[in-house]
Amino acid sequence: MSNDYSITEHRYDVLVVGAGGAGLRATMGLASTGLKTACISKVFPTRSHTVAAQGGMSAALGNMGEDDWRWHMYDTIKGSDWLGDQDAIEYMCREAVPSVIELEHFGVPFSRTQDGKIYQRPFGGMTTRYGEGTAQRTCAAADRTGHAILHTLYQQSLKHNATFFIEYFALDLIMDEDGVCRGLLAWDLAEGTLHLFRAHAVILATGGYGRTYFSCTSAHTCTGDGNGMVLRAGLPLQDMEFIQFHPTGVYGAGVLITEGVRGEGGFLTNSEGERFMERYAPNAKDLASRDVVSRSMTIEIREGRGVGPKKDHIYLNLQHLGADVINKRLPGIAESARIFAGVDVSKEPIPVIPTAHYNMGGIPTNYHGEVVHLHDGDPDAVVSGLFAIGEAACVSVHGANRLGSNSLLDIIVFGRAVAHRCAEVIKPDQRHDHLDQEIVDTLVADFDQLRHAEGQNSAAGVRDEMQQVMQNNAAVFRTGEVLEEGCALISDVFASFEDIRVSDHSMIWNSDLVETLELRNLLACAMVAMHGAENRKESRGAHAREDYPDRDDEDWMKHTLASLDPAGTVSIDYRPVHLYTLTDDVDVVPPKPRVY
Ligand code: FUM
Repeated sequence: MSNDYSITEHRYDVLVVGAGGAGLRATMGLASTGLKTACISKVFPTRSHTVAAQGGMSAALGNMGEDDWRWHMYDTIKGSDWLGDQDAIEYMCREAVPSVIELEHFGVPFSRTQDGKIYQRPFGGMTTRYGEGTAQRTCAAADRTGHAILHTLYQQSLKHNATFFIEYFALDLIMDEDGVCRGLLAWDLAEGTLHLFRAHAVILATGGYGRTYFSCTSAHTCTGDGNGMVLRAGLPLQDMEFIQFHPTGVYGAGVLITEGVRGEGGFLTNSEGERFMERYAPNAKDLASRDVVSRSMTIEIREGRGVGPKKDHIYLNLQHLGADVINKRLPGIAESARIFAGVDVSKEPIPVIPTAHYNMGGIPTNYHGEVVHLHDGDPDAVVSGLFAIGEAACVSVHGANRLGSNSLLDIIVFGRAVAHRCAEVIKPDQRHDHLDQEIVDTLVADFDQLRHAEGQNSAAGVRDEMQQVMQNNAAVFRTGEVLEEGCALISDVFASFEDIRVSDHSMIWNSDLVETLELRNLLACAMVAMHGAENRKESRGAHAREDYPDRDDEDWMKHTLASLDPAGTVSIDYRPVHLYTLTDDVDVVPPKPRVY
């Protein structure tokens, strides 16, 4: 069957998959070192989901008050609820400072202080002096920071002559019999052709799997494509049960309202007009860590103090901030609130609700972006030729809960790090070894089979069922009973994909086939997330179990590694958290109770 396809072969030193902030920072960095670099993306680069990032990127510049990258490191470890790898967190927080200065030099139009420095705002969980004060650490371009960064990095990538393959859908990794990644098979959506990309390094920068949920802040394109490919290659994903709910998604629409609103002085109230966060987090209040704020909001709603006719959401107030702050610092959210909630933010509060926002888990990597897997007892063995960065990856710098504005930081620091690593280990124009044609043929046959699937179930129907299960059974609060039911339900939905129908068999602009391929990836992510959550019998960060309300460092300070076989069996293993630092400049932050 695969003989019916003519496959165009491309040879590059490095292939980047995904053109969000992580993918583009890697692409420009690689191209600037002289490596022959291609970037493929299923959407036009500047439509990638990074464009929606609002509040900013953390870095201890100290432009608006005292700061130190070691305090940032401490906050990030505490925010991670001690599941983050401390060597990687040290690397990220230290490298944050040169990374943001580089971005400024590349041309990112950051907002400015009176004296011309990069403007920085407070964000949740960001403190000075190891928890004593509030840090202003989040570097912002108004409330459109992701947009500013993404456009700049695309321009820089073009300047350095990176080659883009736009509207190409990544189908599968080319893994040889020794477990080495040798390239990737992709489908050109516009021309309707298949392409084999040979590369010495494949860098997955495909973003998160937010669309496993019914209500999320993620773009429709966030379908865990890299994660799905990794699972199909027989490799595990890490910590997939840790899913962040952002406290302030617009009620009913899911659209993000940046934490920067609370950073600029906005606050949450319940039906009694009470600033309830003062009860839950007496010091940090509305700027406690996201998991803490989302749980507090959920408790308020459960206990009957929600707002609106159904008492099922919360108000975010920024009326008092005044037109000057809103127009200068938060123009985008004023527009979003008007469009999606019909609210004039200068007069009324915005109705908000915790909304699925970010995946802490993903493809396990070290701080160079190299994919690691448990091999012969070594938990840090590297998969040759395969790298991952950004939300697709789990470095792990966010552990069980990410601090706001550490995401734009993560994509920039590790996009840069992977470029440095590839420049160290790959020489330009290295020879490509022979590739066994059978490996490609098998993947093409698999694609062909799906393209002509003639079952009973539509992608839209199966996706809807998956999203309902995730929304109901893997929410802000979890119990063993609900998770066990979730495992059974999601396994049934996964099995129903066997009977999928693709009604349009064409190769050109076939959205039904794209959605089916995306659904296959999402379902794989949902399976390992739900089973990982059921298996973890403790509460840590975003994984809040009512039947195991405490963090259990003795038994559970470890990363989940979950694999999935084609029949739908999830296998779970664990690897140790890195409780060590890279240099003598800092000490390990020992676990302690996490209060804000
Ligand atoms: O609230 C926000 O602006 C989102 C930032 C983030 O997720 O890092």
